[in-house]
Amino acid sequence: MIIAIDGPAASGKGTLGKRLAAHYGYRHLDTGLIYRAVAKAMLDAGHALTDEARAIATATALDAGHLGDPALKTDAMGQAASVISAYPGVRAALFDFQRDFASHPPGAVLDGRDIGTVICPYAEVKIFVVASAEVRARRRALEIAGRGEPVDEAAVLDDIKKRDERDRNRSAAPLKAADDAHLLDTSALDIESAVRAAIDIVEAVRAGR
Ligand code: DC
Repeated sequence: MIIAIDGPAASGKGTLGKRLAAHYGYRHLDTGLIYRAVAKAMLDAGHALTDEARAIATATALDAGHLGDPALKTDAMGQAASVISAYPGVRAALFDFQRDFASHPPGAVLDGRDIGTVICPYAEVKIFVVASAEVRARRRALEIAGRGEPVDEAAVLDDIKKRDERDRNRSAAPLKAADDAHLLDTSALDIESAVRAAIDIVEAVRAGR
């Protein structure tokens, strides 16, 4: 079974993906990390993110087996990933890796922006996670503060809004819910309630409800 989870920045889809994968014994791929890894490789090599040809070459050469670098997780890298992910050639270069990851039994959970619409339109379960920008900014700010780092919540909110705007309005695989996706609004839910709601969706689909 393939579970596709899509949603905007800081919507909690990564945590939900991890928890669902653990619950069902499936592999999990946070596809945002692949775009972040391309962005980091570009910046590390001193290339401008606006250099589309370089971004495509970098994505083509990417070793997507190494996505554990904590430096990929920063908000700056999220913004950079949002820029290079708008290039159709970058998305095309990363397509096979994601499709292949999804194809191995017993099942996989992939989270991102276009899993239910482009990467795995045939996924048995599609969940589109939403939460207001303010709630997402608050969660992200608490997470950063929890790591003992200084945080400016207004700047985090601004960052999230910018990323939403770019990810939704690009022409290549924009962030949007698949027609057959189940909407999960986590604005008023804590993590445990959101995980339970996601499992309920999967179980309802499995039971043919
Ligand atoms: O999910 P994330 O915040 O780690 O994603 C970082 C950026 O990567 C996001 O702003 C847009 C891009 N992305 C994408 O275009 N498609 C995906 N499937 C996942 C991420």
